[in-house]
Amino acid sequence: MRERLIVALDVPNLNKGKELIDILEDEVIYYKVGLELFLNTRGEIIDYLKAKNKKIFLDLKFHDIPNTVASASKWATSLGVDMFNVHAGGGEEMLKRAKEAVQEVALRESINPPLLIGVTVLTSFSEEGFKSLGFKTTIPETVQKWALMCKKAGLDGVVSSPQEAQEIKRLCGADFYTVCPGVRPLEAEKGDQKRVMTPKEAVTNGADYLVVGRPINASADPLLAAKNIITEMEER
Ligand code: C5P
Repeated sequence: MRERLIVALDVPNLNKGKELIDILEDEVIYYKVGLELFLNTRGEIIDYLKAKNKKIFLDLKFHDIPNTVASASKWATSLGVDMFNVHAGGGEEMLKRAKEAVQEVALRESINPPLLIGVTVLTSFSEEGFKSLGFKTTIPETVQKWALMCKKAGLDGVVSSPQEAQEIKRLCGADFYTVCPGVRPLEAEKGDQKRVMTPKEAVTNGADYLVVGRPINASADPLLAAKNIITEMEER
């Protein structure tokens, strides 16, 4: 289960990132680097994590015209991360071009291709907030449609709420990865997350990877919080 917990390094600078990684010791193997830390460390956090032999999910959610996303995907692959994501809302052509870019660079540089993951509807959206964007389909319908499109474009999986994981597995197959933020142990604050589940429920509902941020990085005892989450995941 430890391999399936991804801790979101949502911290304001490199020193805070290093501090958290040190506190979490060998308990945490996989880290997610998002916009905040990637930008404020100018990418340096990636080198630090690699030096520490950690696995890296680069969460920059590329969403642009196909050509631009293909170029960005080449650079992400070159960094040697284990997983990165593009936004499913960018459409099938964009997704396909990202996949081709990953394959091209992995072959050229003789490296393992990172998992390419499509972001579906953000877990901070409620049905009401989502409708206000003009979508005519519900969140679950949209997530399913985008997951199928990602599968067709050759992606390895999607980011979704754990609430949607089971249906995605049914539609796209057991080997199509579900990467799920919106995980909250029972006693934790929800913050801005709306479509949440506990670690145990998430694993039971088909989530392959659990992305957890504030319940660990804002905890008074992050190591204990991470241990408790892994224990809960194992209880499924
Ligand atoms: O603090 P919390 O556990 O809510 O952190 C969740 C992390 O997952 C954040 O870094 C957020 O950017 C990310 N994320 C998300 N919803 C998505 C994709 C990524 O919350 N659909």
